[in-house]
Amino acid sequence: MVPLRPYACGVTVLRAEQQPEWPDQAALQDVVARLRLLPPLVFAGECDQLKERLGAVARGEAFLLQGGDCAETFADSTADSIRDKLKTLLQMAVVLTYGARVPVVKVGRIAGQFAKPRSSAIETRDGVTLPSYRGDAVNGQEFTAEARRHDPERLLRVYNTSAATLNLVRAFTQGGLADLREVHAWNQGFVRGAGAGQRYEAMASDIDRAMAFMLACGVNPDALRAVDLYSSHEALLLDYERALTRIDSRTGLPYDVSGHLLWVGERTRALDGAHIEFAASVRNPVAVKLGPATTSEEALALVDRLDPDGEPGRLTFVSRMGAERVRDALPPLVDKVTASGAVVAWVCDPMHGNTYEAPDGLKTRRFNDVIEEVQGFFEVHRDLGTCPGGIHMELTGDDVTECIGGSGGLVESDLPMRYQTACDPRLNHQQSLELAFLVAEMLAAR
Ligand code: TRP
Ligand code: PEP
Ligand code: MN
Repeated sequence: MVPLRPYACGVTVLRAEQQPEWPDQAALQDVVARLRLLPPLVFAGECDQLKERLGAVARGEAFLLQGGDCAETFADSTADSIRDKLKTLLQMAVVLTYGARVPVVKVGRIAGQFAKPRSSAIETRDGVTLPSYRGDAVNGQEFTAEARRHDPERLLRVYNTSAATLNLVRAFTQGGLADLREVHAWNQGFVRGAGAGQRYEAMASDIDRAMAFMLACGVNPDALRAVDLYSSHEALLLDYERALTRIDSRTGLPYDVSGHLLWVGERTRALDGAHIEFAASVRNPVAVKLGPATTSEEALALVDRLDPDGEPGRLTFVSRMGAERVRDALPPLVDKVTASGAVVAWVCDPMHGNTYEAPDGLKTRRFNDVIEEVQGFFEVHRDLGTCPGGIHMELTGDDVTECIGGSGGLVESDLPMRYQTACDPRLNHQQSLELAFLVAEMLAAR
């Protein structure tokens, strides 16, 4: 176990789980001092706008699509990889918007998702034991003592890589790539002829016709030209998040300007822990992951701590129960929270409850389990008369082999072919698109 680092806040001493063991505190403090002087990555006004849109999600008037890597890496933060991830998100968004006629709020696990909680602090290979990889924010993936050393200088690289990524995201989403007239161009060559890719081509042609019709009617085309894509990551490393927390000049209130939406993970959501304390202290929209062991009392206490003013959009609950448990573990939480009068957004992460180890030791997920959990999530909300607010996905725009199943027919023995993730297995481009079509059907039938 990693020793728990106390964080003094008022009179209480709160535990911060899953923090790095920086070997040199002076070096850390130097990095924190430098981070404090750097410009914000996002603006408080954008966070407020996202909060408003998540309010619409909570009321059932919009649907959240949140997706991206489990762990971004410095090496993979290339123009091509970012562009292909964005194209995948845009395709999924357009499938959901067109298929279900619902506004889609688009949020990437992007431009800041560099730190990972780990179930074990150490990893042993061939009799050698080293610290676990905790994300590029903390150490390197390579299995050497040097790479696995916790290095606070990496936090500055997180900031710089996030800034470069956001710059490209803003250029792509506002500068033409996201224009609906490009709807065909988002389809990656390698899926064009296959199942979901073909279905997408047909839908894109319908959209082309619909757009041509609207433009001929004189509809203002501005809304079709660009998208707002917000950035999100797990607020795990409190030294980094605190260094990027600033007082907004308009309101005098604190915002964490490292990303628009921050979430607290399943392993760090203790009510008396420093992560929830941190989330409570900033005015961004925040989310909390809820696993199958969550009690209704905990969920209600999280509402009290994080959304004391009952502000729709402030708090999102991301349930990650697993396909087997969602139908029994989720209803009591939704029921009690709804009965309390709280208006939270309920979002389904069908990835983290469905991870298992294939015989060769690679972590994977079955496409069918992922779909089954989303289906269960919709059923729970239908039965309770509440709103299924969105999906939270680990995905990539690349043709990787990390999750099995889907119409591409990947099986366990295919996994080593292109297993590229730095942490958890992601849906590949085709699986992501296929999922979007299935979720659009569930949403339309709701
Ligand atoms: N601006 C609208 C929206 O975000 C329409 C739109 C433009 C769009 N480009 C898009 C929708 C790409 C989905 C994907 O919904
Ligand atoms: C994650 O989102 O990558 C993650 C670690 O999730 P969870 O906290 O739900 O396990
Ligand atoms: Mn993950």
